[in-house]
Amino acid sequence: MEPVNLYDLEKLAGETLPHNMWDFVDAACNDEITKRRNREAFDRITVNSDFLQDVSNRDLTTTVLGEKISFPVMVAPAGGQRQAHPEGERATAMGAGAAGTLMALNTSSGYSIEEVAEVATGPLWWQLYHFNDEVTELLVTRAKAAGYKAIVLTIDTPAPSPKERDVRNGYHALPGLHWGSLRDRPDLVALRSVGIPDLADWNPPDFTGLTWERLDWLRNLTGLPLVVKGVRTVREAAQCAEYGVDGIIVSNHGGRQMDGTRSTIETLVPIAEAVGGGNMEIYLDSGIRRGMDVLKALALGARAVLVGRPLFWGLAHDGARGVEMMLNILRAEFDRSMAYCGKRTPAEIDRAVVELPCQCWSGSPIFAQ
Ligand SMILES: Cc1cc2nc3c(=O)[nH]c(=O)nc-3n(C[C@H](O)[C@H](O)[C@H](O)COP(=O)(O)O)c2cc1C
Repeated sequence: MEPVNLYDLEKLAGETLPHNMWDFVDAACNDEITKRRNREAFDRITVNSDFLQDVSNRDLTTTVLGEKISFPVMVAPAGGQRQAHPEGERATAMGAGAAGTLMALNTSSGYSIEEVAEVATGPLWWQLYHFNDEVTELLVTRAKAAGYKAIVLTIDTPAPSPKERDVRNGYHALPGLHWGSLRDRPDLVALRSVGIPDLADWNPPDFTGLTWERLDWLRNLTGLPLVVKGVRTVREAAQCAEYGVDGIIVSNHGGRQMDGTRSTIETLVPIAEAVGGGNMEIYLDSGIRRGMDVLKALALGARAVLVGRPLFWGLAHDGARGVEMMLNILRAEFDRSMAYCGKRTPAEIDRAVVELPCQCWSGSPIFAQ
């Protein structure tokens, strides 16, 4: 079957990947309610057409923290890529570059910070799970030296979240396919020991010692722009703005960390109302599967979005070419979505493009500052 959309790629990956690996990628936390809600919420938003506009010259490009990307979709940081394809993160970087967009490399990547940078043709960000000051200093410094453009701090893992499917499967990280950046420093890798079996999604220790007050410390290590990933509430978004963070990723980790929170597209609404329009760029991930989802996220205040699981589907299908194919499918769908809504550029996509299923998405007291 030649994949026509991302769901085709998902189906093919389900047939290709070993059962345990498939579950590792597909699984989410506990009852997987938030994961389902991520999709359901996108599906409940309706869009307004705007025909008979001159949309013959559409330009999908945008910038993220000043880096030009060919369309407003990036590749999310994700662990375990070498277990989906031998070339792992290097293939993903090549696929993202071929599609003209940015990849965020995860902390425990199977290939090192430098090995990925060597083959990347698009911009890179480096994602950090902080568990020890010395390790963080070492890795962010190397990321800067290798040309990564920003540090992405993932904040939504104050406690490990073993996926129950992984526990049942007895899934383990395969030796040698993770922690490429610390290949010669097993002593440092050992510092992150969590006292439970290593479940490859890289479960950080319970409390990592990094709090809002120490964001300046982190930023001063490199001076690179700081993006905070895993923002779920207006309060957190407002704190990020207060601390002068450069960008936030409204993310619930694809439902993989902490079940029971809202979907990200619901969360985006009050967050964009509260902190949109300032200097801090707002991105979103979790549940993006269609070009129309990208348009909906931009209409509700995101500058760009990221995809997580789909990168594994692309990798499993055809390595770098599969990742490029996945992104190009999304691009073609996004391009058509813009045309239907009478838009020629991402900047023209405004709130009038979408209808929310109910007003309850904005102004909830739970999300008030
Ligand atoms: C297999 C897998 C591993 C992941 N590992 C990480 C990680 O190491 N660091 C991180 O910040 N997010 C990680 N994520 C979360 C993604 O960055 C992203 O937030 C999520 O996948 C987006 O949702 P989606 O899969 O529905 O697109 C991982 C996601 C998956 C599917």
